[in-house]
Amino acid sequence: MARYELFTLAIFATLCVLNQVTAQSQPIDQICLGCICHGMSLCNQTIGCNGDTCGAFKITWAYWSDAGKPTINGIDPNSADGYSRCTNDPVCAGKAVENYMTKYSQDCNGDGAIDCRDYASIHRLGGYGCNAPLDPTYLARFNKCLQDVSQLNG
Ligand SMILES: *[C@@H]1O[C@H](CO)[C@@H](O)[C@H](O)[C@H]1NC(C)=O
Repeated sequence: MARYELFTLAIFATLCVLNQVTAQSQPIDQICLGCICHGMSLCNQTIGCNGDTCGAFKITWAYWSDAGKPTINGIDPNSADGYSRCTNDPVCAGKAVENYMTKYSQDCNGDGAIDCRDYASIHRLGGYGCNAPLDPTYLARFNKCLQDVSQLNG
């Protein structure tokens, strides 16, 4: 199987996992979530916690807290593992990103629209100062993902 096909399969798998997160009307769609996840970690669902981030979206405790501390399995948001259990779960982590985007939604690049590019910047740079440049690795992965998805969609 060609490398490109494997890559598109990986994106599809990610979108399927994240699809359940974005079933209702939301400000950020599953393609955008998938490409942010891809940009952050190649959407590695087993990445675990490293330094001050956890999970495929590499979410910090402060980000998760600003996102309203969503949890899985009815875990108390203030319990010791509320943060790590949520951020390592694709659906809960997606929910955290979604909440964060709702809270900090803004036109980071000043192009007159609030779209996936703005969400990608808000995710990487936070709700304050999202007009700063993105690091090249994240930006390149994110751009390639959006481009590949748009080709898939025809
Ligand atoms: C995901 O991250 C884990 C932990 O860093 C690593 O061992 C594993 O190789 C990664 N998986 C992929 C597909 O890169």
